[in-house]
Amino acid sequence: MQGQGKLKLSVHLRTQPPEKVFVLRPDAAQRFIELSVVDSGPGIPAEIRDRLFEPFFTTKHSGAKAGTGLGLSLVYSIAKQDGLGLAVESEPGKGASFIILMPVRD
Ligand SMILES: Nc1ncnc2c1ncn2[C@@H]1O[C@H](COP(=O)(O)OP(=O)(O)OP(=O)(O)O)[C@@H](O)[C@H]1O
Ligand SMILES: [Mg+2]
Repeated sequence: MQGQGKLKLSVHLRTQPPEKVFVLRPDAAQRFIELSVVDSGPGIPAEIRDRLFEPFFTTKHSGAKAGTGLGLSLVYSIAKQDGLGLAVESEPGKGASFIILMPVRD
């Protein structure tokens, strides 16, 4: 977030996946727990949107705060392995929104 904006975490129970473009579709279920992570930071430039979930891809190169580029690739791997849904949206300059949908199983 480059020190800008606010971060909001929220959890909702859904009976169907929201109308989003999913990076990964969730497994079918009657209900889903939706975890959304929304920030009002700088957003994600269009030119890196396709690389977000790539292992070791990072734009954080400065000193002690340098990134590993493993955060989102771990999120992707776990979501894929467990049949979770994953969606991301961003409007550059206005922030980013990540959604994880967890199918509720009996
Ligand atoms: N909320 C966000 N807003 C803007 N850009 C983001 C956001 N989340 C991720 N990115 C972009 O995606 C890149 C990859 O993210 P990822 O979490 O995989 O690695 P990282 O954050 O750079 O490193 P680390 O997770 O080790 O701190 C980031 O470097 C950044 O460019
Ligand atoms: Mg990260």
